[in-house]
Amino acid sequence: MPSLVGRRVRLSKSGRNWKGLCPFHNEKSPSFYVYDDSFHCFGCGAHGDAFAFIMRAEGGGFMEAVERLAGEAGLDVPKPTPEAAARERRAKDLHGVLQAAEAAYAKRLRSPEGAEGLAYLKRRGLTEETIATFGLGWSGAGRGALLAELRAEGIEQSQLIEAGLMQERDEGRVVDLFFNRVMFPIRDRRGRTISFGGRILGDGQPKYVNGPETVLFSKRRNLYGLDLAREGVFRGATLLVAEGYMDVIALHQAGFTGAVAPLGTALTEEQFQALWQVSPEPVLCLDGDAAGQRAAARAAEVAMPLLAPDRSLRFVTLPAGEDPDTLIRQKGARGFQSLLEAAQPLSEAVFSLIVGGKLPEAPEARAALRNRLAGIAQTIPDKALASEFRSAFFNRFFALSRAPGKRAAPRHPRPVADPEAIRAERARIILAICIHQPEILRDAEEPLALLDLPDGPARQVRDALLAWIEGAERLDSAELIAHLAQCGMASAGQWVLREQGLPMEARPGAQPKEALDAFWQMFGFLRGEAELAEDARAAQRAFAATNDPAAQTRLIRLTEALDALRRGELDETEDA
Ligand code: UTP
Ligand code: MN
Repeated sequence: MPSLVGRRVRLSKSGRNWKGLCPFHNEKSPSFYVYDDSFHCFGCGAHGDAFAFIMRAEGGGFMEAVERLAGEAGLDVPKPTPEAAARERRAKDLHGVLQAAEAAYAKRLRSPEGAEGLAYLKRRGLTEETIATFGLGWSGAGRGALLAELRAEGIEQSQLIEAGLMQERDEGRVVDLFFNRVMFPIRDRRGRTISFGGRILGDGQPKYVNGPETVLFSKRRNLYGLDLAREGVFRGATLLVAEGYMDVIALHQAGFTGAVAPLGTALTEEQFQALWQVSPEPVLCLDGDAAGQRAAARAAEVAMPLLAPDRSLRFVTLPAGEDPDTLIRQKGARGFQSLLEAAQPLSEAVFSLIVGGKLPEAPEARAALRNRLAGIAQTIPDKALASEFRSAFFNRFFALSRAPGKRAAPRHPRPVADPEAIRAERARIILAICIHQPEILRDAEEPLALLDLPDGPARQVRDALLAWIEGAERLDSAELIAHLAQCGMASAGQWVLREQGLPMEARPGAQPKEALDAFWQMFGFLRGEAELAEDARAAQRAFAATNDPAAQTRLIRLTEALDALRRGELDETEDA
């Protein structure tokens, strides 16, 4: 390499290597280095091997460079057949293509166009070392820039398509998949880059774009960070499964070097198998919010039929709305460590997911719950293990049924309200409020749409109401009632508006302000604490992003509803 370059650039010895004035940009002091098998310019970033050098220095394609180099070496190159040329073009296999792309993205992160991306990563607390370890980069602005750059290394458009970095559109146009994104190389267990995830800066959608399935990349089979985690676990770290790329990175940086994450989907059977190849008891870290709990339940369901005495799981539940990344930033590595130490064994976690903290009162409901637990234990193929789970479940079940209730027994025995009935009544109240005071829907339309209302009249009326708003010229109660009657909702409407049991705020003629307060109170009940917390966070983000007064009002409302719900003061109104 030095002799090849030396014939075109004046080089001087620098340590074991050579340097000179870069032939690819104008410079006064040498920043162009030549190594045994490659060159790199610290000024303009040009780099590559001998072929790349010839192509850049003298123009022409890969085959011409091959011929010229062979010629310089005194070799006679036979004129290539078309097939040989095609094979030659594929000389860089897909792994090489992805590696070259990773290098190009990483270089761009350090160039002026990547400055914003780099600042973003720094702002999120990543060190230079972490950025390098994970090979993070900047996609550039798209528009074929990657291809233009990689062509110099003999890489062609078809290879970028095959690697999942470019896509063919309907009109035959080929476009970059990633642009204006921070790039996260996704690597296989051996550390070879097989695809990328790209994160937008800030709040746009979609937050992450992931490469498509390719010959090398399968979302169900790979785990982000597994290459590094294998090594971390080998050195004594706990194998941890987080939800996101940034979590994995933050965990590694904080010293939890056994962290991995699935690739934007729920954990699959293949991923569990891959985890168990590394450790018998990986720990799943999930958000304590409703979505996190659903993910935990789904993961447990996938894992149970695969369990064996040396293949299990534990769960860490994070405070609602936190992920390992935010938690470490707030509470430090120690804060996370203490959660990790309190990880729940699988049997406990499944029990809590199914039963919650309290048993139902009705004997039928209890029996159903026990059957369900027994059924879950039975999905474990190993007989002895299944029977252990069964007894662990039942021990907890009976412990819970003996535990004294939180509140003393009521002085007057009264029928325990059925939660479904309470829910239905709350749905009725919120709908009555909306029907009598439709003007509150200016603020309340979206929350109303969000509610998961009971099937039947409640949902019918809600959906009809939302449909009506679309076309309504004014938000008038009488018009709304007439409309509902016309779409065959007479009986549902009667059910909602029956005055018995409706609080004053939900009756005709209530004060709008009080009606709105009551709306949010009911919304809090119906939505539930976890979702409400999630809504409040979303509102906070929206407010931070837009500074919109409506978003602020919404944030305040949600926070109040959440506070009230947490103080439990609302629950005292319970006599339905
Ligand atoms: P999160 O939304 O929890 O992202 O999604 P995160 O990792 O905490 O990201 P930051 O902290 O906001 O940057 C978890 C994972 O789900 C996948 C990604 O793998 C992400 O890491 N995901 C999320 C997508 O694939 N697409 C999306 O639009 C969002
Ligand atoms: Mn996050």
